Amino acid sequence: MKSPPRLVVVANRLPASRVGHGPGIRWERSPGGLVSAMSPVLEDRGGVWIGWDGGAGPAPRPGRVGGVDLRGVGLSRSEVEKYYHGFCNTTLWPLYHDAIVNPEFHRSWWEPYIDVNRRFATAAARAYRRNNLVWVHDYQLQLAPRMIRERKPNARIGFFLHIPFPPDELFAWLPWRSAILRGLLGSDVIGFQTQASAENFVRVAKRYAGAEGTERELTIDRRTVRVMACPISIPAAEFEKIAASPSVRRKAAEIKQQLGGRKMLLGVDRLDYTKGIPLRLHAFHELLQDRKLSVHECVMVQIAVPSRESVPGYEETRREVELTVGRINGEFSMPGKVAVHYFRRSLSREDLVAYYLAADVMLVTPLRDGMNLVAKEYVMCRDDGTGVLVLSEFAGAARELRRALLVNPRDVETLKKTIVQAVRMRESDQRMRMAMLRSNVRRHDVHDWSRAFLEAIDD
Ligand code: ADP
Ligand code: G6P
Repeated sequence: MKSPPRLVVVANRLPASRVGHGPGIRWERSPGGLVSAMSPVLEDRGGVWIGWDGGAGPAPRPGRVGGVDLRGVGLSRSEVEKYYHGFCNTTLWPLYHDAIVNPEFHRSWWEPYIDVNRRFATAAARAYRRNNLVWVHDYQLQLAPRMIRERKPNARIGFFLHIPFPPDELFAWLPWRSAILRGLLGSDVIGFQTQASAENFVRVAKRYAGAEGTERELTIDRRTVRVMACPISIPAAEFEKIAASPSVRRKAAEIKQQLGGRKMLLGVDRLDYTKGIPLRLHAFHELLQDRKLSVHECVMVQIAVPSRESVPGYEETRREVELTVGRINGEFSMPGKVAVHYFRRSLSREDLVAYYLAADVMLVTPLRDGMNLVAKEYVMCRDDGTGVLVLSEFAGAARELRRALLVNPRDVETLKKTIVQAVRMRESDQRMRMAMLRSNVRRHDVHDWSRAFLEAIDD
């Protein structure tokens, strides 16, 4: 059988970053859904991953982790500021997430965005061999597909956007909208998390970039570009396996016991304003105040990975979360019965799964989210069929996980009622819903996602 074409993955982040100094230096897995999703694909097929290691300075030396060649792209201190903190995370990230915080538009950030995209494209062209597939990822690299095409006209190039693509009303704000669209349209295939995002893209590609065609296929410069919705997923079997391991089950039992056998409500997120962590805490706070729930019966655990701390909005979110946790605990904790446990750190996958196993209710309440893998991970770990997923309507995952308790997180009254419904749900109802949710994720795991996308590029 012919072996599959080698992959050239181009993503802002390397899947691992170097931490420590001198002899203590080691590679640590990078945060976020993109890395979680792509690691198994590359471990299966092999290839090269072009990305940034998260620091300022020259490119790190090439490395190899888990059968993948890592090729670093270096960013100067000023580029970290203007490209990463600036254009990527203060302009594009909030704009593409419904402008939850106000996106800022600074002309001095645009040139660095072009320069860094060009550097990634050059590195990709250098790593490219005949018949390879090039897969570019996410909002940080929207100009790269066209730049790679200029260097390798015959390359097959796919682009996948991990975050939502905004509606015309928001996208139109972007002073550089046509250039961004032309950059993306250098691909052969452009993938989105949802049909709604794909439709938003097609509309603006026609309006601002002169593309023509249908919802699935656009024509520009006498080339065709396929547009598809291709929701990302998780390595389902791997999560099931970790959840079944005796040491992880022991750890879950220990967590339950340490929490006094109370019903556990869990949140697991990057500490990001899109994730709706404060709203979820406010809802829990009010439920304690209204005596709809009590600390004798319930405990909330919020695990938050630090993220983008020098970007506007993140420090404020952290302060609000920490203030609210302090307030709730000050008012309601009792000896041996803390109301909210808050961990601001990254956990190993085993520890994370132990928390999923210990959680009676999983609260996934983002204000806007491309997909949200945490929701799918929780479901796949619940192998005894119990547990309740409360899921925001505004996460891409809500399109597939229809039997979750779907909620508008800004509607605090309904959110409160939904949390109570989750805590009190009969076991038979939990099992019925969880069986459907598990079969949704199992039927479409990360391998199906990457296969579908790569087949489309390879077509
Ligand atoms: P995003 O990509 O916006 O961060 P996702 O929910 O899609 O959100 O993906 C987050 C990924 O990061 C998941 O795979 C999740 O398991 C992982 N993750 C989230 N919080 C933690 C944590 N505290 N420790 C370790 N991994 C985490
Ligand atoms: C989300 C984005 C990724 C990003 C990740 C972590 O998952 O879609 O592109 O890598 O968050 O964010 P960071 O800024 O730390 O790379």
